[in-house]
Amino acid sequence: MVSVAIMGHGVVGSGVAEILLTHKQKLFSGLGEEIYIKKILDLREFPDSPVAERFTKNFEEILGDLEIRVVVEVMGGLNPAYDYVKRCLKAGKSVVTSNKELVAAHGAELLSIAKEENVNFMFEASVGGGIPIIRPMNQCLVANNVGEVAGILNGTTNFILTKMIEDGMQFADALKLAQDLGFAERNPAADIEGHDACRKICILASLAFGKHVYPESVHTEGITAITLEDVNFAEAFGYVIKLIGRVKKLENGKIDIITAPMLVPFKSQLSNIVNEFNGIMVRGDCTGDVVFYGKGAGKLPTASAVVADVVDCCKHLKARRFLFWADGDGSNIIDWRDSVSAMYVRCSGEGAAEKAEQVFGEIDSVKDGDELALLTQEMSYRDFESKCKALEGEGVTILSTIRIGDI
Ligand code: HSE
Repeated sequence: MVSVAIMGHGVVGSGVAEILLTHKQKLFSGLGEEIYIKKILDLREFPDSPVAERFTKNFEEILGDLEIRVVVEVMGGLNPAYDYVKRCLKAGKSVVTSNKELVAAHGAELLSIAKEENVNFMFEASVGGGIPIIRPMNQCLVANNVGEVAGILNGTTNFILTKMIEDGMQFADALKLAQDLGFAERNPAADIEGHDACRKICILASLAFGKHVYPESVHTEGITAITLEDVNFAEAFGYVIKLIGRVKKLENGKIDIITAPMLVPFKSQLSNIVNEFNGIMVRGDCTGDVVFYGKGAGKLPTASAVVADVVDCCKHLKARRFLFWADGDGSNIIDWRDSVSAMYVRCSGEGAAEKAEQVFGEIDSVKDGDELALLTQEMSYRDFESKCKALEGEGVTILSTIRIGDI
């Protein structure tokens, strides 16, 4: 029997406890041992839980219990999760987390402590909810030089955009629905402003390229400025709007990383990923494109990934799984304004099409009433900004701009 503790009994934590209890026999046959929930840490009371007597409000009871070999951190946020996880690792316990904020902010340090202590620090659930992505990238694709990773990494925003695209639903109503379904973060600003997706692409970039990428080094835009007009114009050009986290390795060895809404062509695998589903494309030099798809948020999908890591830790109590990246200082990341992309522009003003053509060169355009939408050729964002200024100088009002994803 392996004793484990779960810190946090919210959406994901209660899902982890549920799977460990309801799938006990299935897990026993995979591991050859019982996984026993010895303690659950939460400040709230859960008198109706089948394991109500195992709840504690005191972290020290978990830390000091030598029988507890694996600790699950599903509290979310940095405080006190960072301190608790660090202390558990230093006490020789393996830690499994779904906390992308923690891994994106402190992954390199926590991996290094785990290495020193010869224990495991695993976080499959931190990216893509129930989709296997950390383990496949770390193991199955290990023979590849990865050139690019791009994905729809946030279920809440994908759900909102899907409702806007398919049902013409207003942004606020779709967000409320996503919150009611348990997809959104406690503070949904992290979802809609792109920070959650940014943390996830940082984790994947760190894993793919071996150096920690901190969220502060990544230009991040959310979906709050996306309108139904943009959705409709995008469709007219043959695209859907998706919030994309993307990192590419450039020929100079540096990486180009961004989180932003993008126009994704209908022909892209990522264009058909709807609702709370996530999709992640990994471009390997041996495999070509590999696409991972599944539920990126929600109680049981996320808990499924956590439990898989718990089983892995239980199987490897004496040996470490190799999962590691070094710390990074951002010197391997290009300035986001030097990133090259074609752009979508929605604008209005007399003679906008002719003026836009003069400024941008060759464009595709669609007119609807007073508004013009256009697609430019590829250029650096720095060039794009100066051309937008020039266009506004000609009396054209720019209403929105969105990158076009070559994915
Ligand atoms: N709020 C996150 C999402 C939860 O919507 O994807 C899963 O990380």
